[in-house]
Amino acid sequence: MLIVTLILIVLSVSIIIQSNQIKSLIYNQQAQFFIYEAKEVSTIIKDKSSPEVVNERLRILAQFLNATILIYNRDGDLTTAQKTQHEEHDHVILDKEFLARVLQGENIIHSGKVNNYPVDVFLVAVPVKDRNKITGAVVIYSPLAPLEQQIKNIRQISFWGALLGMGLATILSVFILKTMTRPLLNMEAVAHAIAAGEFGKQVPVVTNDEVGKLASSLNNMSLQLKEKIEAIERLDKTRQEFVSNVSHELRTPLTVIQSFSEAILDGLVKGEKEKDFYLKNVLEESKRLKRLVNDLLDLKALEAGPTLADMEYVLISKLVMVTAGNFMSLAREKNIDLTVTIKDKGVTVYGNIDRLKQVMTNLIGNAIAHTRPGGRVAIREEQKDDLVLLSVADNGPGIPPDEMENIWERFYKVDKSRARGAGGTGLGLAIARRIAELHGGTITVDSVLGEGAVFTIALPIANDV
Ligand SMILES: Nc1ncnc2c1ncn2[C@@H]1O[C@H](COP(=O)(O)OP(=O)(O)OP(=O)(O)O)[C@@H](O)[C@H]1O
Ligand SMILES: [Mg+2]
Repeated sequence: MLIVTLILIVLSVSIIIQSNQIKSLIYNQQAQFFIYEAKEVSTIIKDKSSPEVVNERLRILAQFLNATILIYNRDGDLTTAQKTQHEEHDHVILDKEFLARVLQGENIIHSGKVNNYPVDVFLVAVPVKDRNKITGAVVIYSPLAPLEQQIKNIRQISFWGALLGMGLATILSVFILKTMTRPLLNMEAVAHAIAAGEFGKQVPVVTNDEVGKLASSLNNMSLQLKEKIEAIERLDKTRQEFVSNVSHELRTPLTVIQSFSEAILDGLVKGEKEKDFYLKNVLEESKRLKRLVNDLLDLKALEAGPTLADMEYVLISKLVMVTAGNFMSLAREKNIDLTVTIKDKGVTVYGNIDRLKQVMTNLIGNAIAHTRPGGRVAIREEQKDDLVLLSVADNGPGIPPDEMENIWERFYKVDKSRARGAGGTGLGLAIARRIAELHGGTITVDSVLGEGAVFTIALPIANDV
């Protein structure tokens, strides 16, 4: 509102100044014109033509100028008065002093009232000179009204022009303001949404200027916040799951240990054989607890560091032979055909030998655990480009396609009921994947349900030099 008032004030002042300038400009122009024509008149009279010719020429000039022409002699007596056709008033009678000034050589311009004349006039009086001697005076005048009307018209035009300009400027500025404020309002809404905990909202970026840049950086921030918050929420969820998984895994063996020991202490267990059975169970569960805690500590250590300690060049064929060898008697017991195929004997990998053994042990252990008597487990080593592939294939039940991603999760077991009997904790593959990663490698699974599973570790070959 204040701005509008200010604009109006500035505009009116400029209109007043402008119209005054227009007035003096038009007056000036008219004066120059009349003075010029008055000089024309003086040349006409100096011309030695006959009085009729002179009069005719003056009459035409008066018509053309739409003005009255008066001619005075050296003594200030009126000699000729040439009016226009439409002039109804008697001509102007000039003061003696006024004429005296002109006859002394002064050009006089006057606008307004003159003695007897009923309307305001615009009047110019110039001396007539003949070889530097003043021989008379020429006066030209016309009513002021048409000139005033002209000025009024021009003033009106400039006023309406200014008003129109102002109107256009207002409309334009409102439009610009709108286009500028809309994105800002959008951004404000997004900022509010963020403050209210609603992340990821976006504003449309329409321009490439500062406002556009602001919008896209706000969008960026909003998106990043959303991702961060989601990551935090995910982490929180995993942590909660982890805690509840650990508690659950701990409770079962602890319950067995507690109730079995109590039974023995309370004398409820009769006979050595039965006692043995109970104690064996307590021992089994204690081992299980120890393994669980060890695995957890293991995983924690592996997840903490970006690298492994105790790295060396490991001969892969030897590593495979040794780990597979550890399972020979177990495989024979379960009547499982365990085979090892080594394609490239000399391949080495830069790694931690114990950790690599741990991975192979888990994979072979899993394969044997999931294979029925009479089945087979095939271990294979081969080179592919600059990688060495170690695979463990079995012809057990395989893994359902929708479980293939989950088996890498901590504590995840496909068959929950079976797992307890098999004694696994579901940490083995999580540990294996982390170890593969720490070696710059990968571990993947391929399985057809009912036909078996193939686990493959790919490690970068590092030739011992
Ligand atoms: N060769 C396989 N065939 C079928 N299922 C498998 C095989 N290997 C692993 N799995 C599934 O993946 C799950 C996770 O395996 P992982 O080695 O992580 O845990 P686990 O063997 O149960 O326990 P842990 O290895 O910690 O003693 C297993 O419980 C099993 O359901
Ligand atoms: Mg396992």
